[in-house]
Amino acid sequence: MQINALAAHQLGEALKPYSFEPKERQNYDCLIKVLACGICHSDIHMIDNDWGQSRYPVVPGHEVIGEIVEIGSQVNHLKVGDRVGVGWQMSSCLQCTDCLKGNENLCDQNQGLIVNGYGGFADYLAVDSRFAFPIPAGIETEVAGPLLCGGVTVYSALRHAGMSSGQEIGVIGVGGLGHMAVQFASRLGNSVTVFTTSEDKAEFANQLGARHVVVVPPGESPPAPTRQLDIIISTVPQSLDWAAYIEYLSSDGTFTLVGVPPEPLTIPLWALLNKRRRVMASPIGGRAMIIEMLSVAERFGIKPIVETFPMEQANEAMQKVRDNKVRYRAVLTVS
Ligand SMILES: NC(=O)c1ccc[n+]([C@@H]2O[C@H](COP(=O)([O-])OP(=O)(O)OC[C@H]3O[C@@H](n4cnc5c(N)ncnc54)[C@H](OP(=O)(O)O)[C@@H]3O)[C@@H](O)[C@H]2O)c1
Ligand SMILES: [Zn+2]
Ligand SMILES: [Zn+2]
Repeated sequence: MQINALAAHQLGEALKPYSFEPKERQNYDCLIKVLACGICHSDIHMIDNDWGQSRYPVVPGHEVIGEIVEIGSQVNHLKVGDRVGVGWQMSSCLQCTDCLKGNENLCDQNQGLIVNGYGGFADYLAVDSRFAFPIPAGIETEVAGPLLCGGVTVYSALRHAGMSSGQEIGVIGVGGLGHMAVQFASRLGNSVTVFTTSEDKAEFANQLGARHVVVVPPGESPPAPTRQLDIIISTVPQSLDWAAYIEYLSSDGTFTLVGVPPEPLTIPLWALLNKRRRVMASPIGGRAMIIEMLSVAERFGIKPIVETFPMEQANEAMQKVRDNKVRYRAVLTVS
């Protein structure tokens, strides 16, 4: 069979049609008919080879929702017709200590769908079914995709930073990831402060669940803090005045990064040492975290706010993401 996809054939290039024969399917694989696919900023980092690991052609798309149309002989937990989601990760060794602890995302042999394979900007996706997750009935197809990468990334990062409820949580950047972080943190009973460069997002922030908003014009530093935050998550793909944001942390507070800025972090030690503050970063989430996050999203009514585009308009949608014009996640749909 041929899979018909959209690919960047060279660094930074617009997406063009690309057809390929999928690898021979193994016992644990399944074939998924793609129904919808979110656009994550990591798709842009990969097209632009920001992380030096892109192999062209790059077929983006790692927030994939689809229906299983073919299943391998060893797959018992899924069946033809099931609606599943696939995120950033397409495989891991399943045997190392990290994998056995449910941290497949930390496995040395973990493979990324759009790094080691081809993603969901396509009519079909062939993947290891152990990295395909059933979508709860209460989550619609068009909004489910963004949970598979963006959703689990912020949920896992906040949980590993110690988020429970009754805390003060800061979210820097209200894009695809950020607007889900605001929802997870607030619906789970926390008071959320957002930092945004966008005036319209500042006005809408309380509808997402935020209690406080700080507008920080692009390239500027945030004002001196007027309240202390237990956890701050940065979802911004650019370098910021980290030290100024760390001043917002309470003693023993945690600053966690999920956004990937191009330069190393520069943080004065005293900003951490004097208040015993921590800085961490967090990659996506393991399989257990994905299942937990999907169930929390369904139970607490956490829904990505999406702008949909037909798959054929992927380039227009991609440009809107680059221009920070999407409110809040672009999703490509297949009719
Ligand atoms: N750690 C992981 O496993 C993981 C997983 C997925 C994605 N990511 C990374 O997370 C980052 C965000 O992804 P996304 O899909 O949420 O991107 P996105 O939808 O483009 O959102 C990023 C947001 O950051 C803010 N921003 C952008 N440029 C800025 C600048 N120069 N100064 C200040 N704020 C700026 C904007 O928010 P405002 O308009 O509110 O200012 C923007 O909406 C990317 O680097 C992506 O690769 C990491
Ligand atoms: Zn992603
Ligand atoms: Zn492993």
